[in-house]
This record gives sequence, structure tokens and C-alpha cells, in this order.
Amino acid sequence: MFTPAQGGVVVDAYSPHPAGRTAPPTTGDSVPGVQSADGNPTASSAPARPLVAADVRGGPIPKHIGCVMDGNGRWANRRGLPRTEGHGAGEAALLDAVEGALELGIPWLTMYAFSTENWRRPADEVRYLMGFNEGLLARRRDELNEKGVRIRFAGRRDWRVPKRVLRRMDESVALTEKNRRMTLTMAFNYGGRAEIVDAVRALVADGVPANKVDEKAIRSRLYYPDMPDPDLVIRTSGETRISNFLLWQLAYSELVFPDVLWPDFRREHLFDAVREYQQRQRRYGGVT
Ligand code: FPP
Repeated sequence: MFTPAQGGVVVDAYSPHPAGRTAPPTTGDSVPGVQSADGNPTASSAPARPLVAADVRGGPIPKHIGCVMDGNGRWANRRGLPRTEGHGAGEAALLDAVEGALELGIPWLTMYAFSTENWRRPADEVRYLMGFNEGLLARRRDELNEKGVRIRFAGRRDWRVPKRVLRRMDESVALTEKNRRMTLTMAFNYGGRAEIVDAVRALVADGVPANKVDEKAIRSRLYYPDMPDPDLVIRTSGETRISNFLLWQLAYSELVFPDVLWPDFRREHLFDAVREYQQRQRRYGGVT
């Protein structure tokens, strides 16, 4: 259960959107005694409570959310556990985020699971992460399939990714390829710069002359040209970096940095982030 004490963004569930839209409470399931972010009891007569999907459904829902699942190591350290235990605990957060996104009808969700730079981590942790990602697919692909989730992977299939992991990835893609309720893209051995480099290599390999290189030509050579740019990117743990995630696609994404470690992340935090997104004004370089 989300509590502000865990460091989540606290939003008054009853306040109106800036554009005049309101997100009325629908369930009446308020949680008495919930505190505000500064630790004081809330003064409002309507006590703050964790958001539910219905609180944000009245506003614009992002078509694509990207998540940087950060803070697993710190979560484990604080408990005197090995870092790998933090990754293990992140699995429940991942599944709950998917559930929350399904509740909101979000069709695209991209999760940063392993970067091209994460090979620099201690060998034991890298080995664990390879096995963990393989195991996660084995454990979860059937339930994701039953929920109508299409699983895809964005990243390099290089020699460092063990064959058995690649096999499990391919099986998961094949099992779920017809699903369209949501596309869950796992960014695995993924780097935003590597993706752009790979697109440029493809341009050269295709013999595209310099005067024909434009945004469309590059976009069409990204890993998934059909994937819309993320409207919203959430990075947990309080770090405010992009760390090489979807560099091309993030040009106009709204960024939210909830102060919660990934293993503690639950759908309530996703709804908070969507609420924050709904309060942003997107201009794409123009004026409003
Ligand atoms: C970027 O920070 C964060 C990531 C690439 C996410 C890594 C996530 C995991 C290893 C765990 C995945 C968990 C599940 C449940 C699948 P960074 O640490 O690569 O970059 P930084 O050094 O800039 O912080």
C-alpha cells in the first residue's frame, strides 16, 4: 500500500485540473489519518488517500509511459540485503505498474530493465540480472499473455546476452505477438545512443544519400518505428537523470521523478505521475 512516508508524490485527489477538468473521487475509499509529504496530518476535510484509476481517468491519459526502474540497490542496502534482493523485489513493482497501466487503458509501456552501460556493474550482479530477467519472463509471460499484453524487447542482441535469455525473449515475443491491449517493451541491453548509432548504420547500409537524411529517415530505422514517443517518463528513486533511455523519443516527453525506490513503486505512484502529467502544459516549441 502506498503511503506518503514511503516517499511518494502526494497529490490532493480532490483538487481540480488547471484546465477546469475535475477528477472526482468515485469510490469514497478514503484513508483516514494519511499524512502530507512534510509528515503533518492533512488539514483538508477530505483526507488525502492513494489515488485510484478513476481519479485520473477524467483527464488526458498518456498513450505511452516509459519507466526507469531505479533504486533497487538502495532499497536492498537499507535493509542490509544484497543488491540482488532489491532487483528481486522490483518484480512485484513491475507487475503492479503494468496492472495500473492496464486499468488506465495505457496502450504502450516501456520499462528500462538493463542498459548498454549496466555491463559495468559487478560480474555477479550482471549474472544475476541475466538470470533474473530470464526467470521473470518464464514466471510472468503466461499471465501477461492472458491480460492481452504484447511483450517486445528493445536493445542490442549482442554476444554478451546469454543464448538462453535470448531464447526466452523470443518465446515471450512469439507467445504474445497477437495481443494489442498493451505493448510492454522491455528495454534490455538498451542504450539511446546505441539505438541512434544503429539507425545511422542502417541509413549507411541502405545507401541513403546525405540530402535524403531527415527525421523521418532516422525514425524509420529506430528499433520500433511504430512505437509512439513517450508522453510521460517516470524515473524512481529521486535521481533526476535520463541515463541513456530513449534519447530520440524523449524530445518532448514530460518527466516525473517520484521520490520512491523502485521496489516500493505501486500503481498508486503511477496514478500520481499521470495526475502530475495532466497538470503540465505541452507546447512542443510553440505557444499556448
Ligand atoms: C538507469 O540507471 C536505470 C536502469 C537502466 C534500470 C536498471 C534496472 C535494473 C537493473 C533492474 C530491473 C528490474 C526489474 C524488476 C526488471 P543506471 O544505474 O543504469 O544509470 P546511472 O548510473 O546514471 O544511475
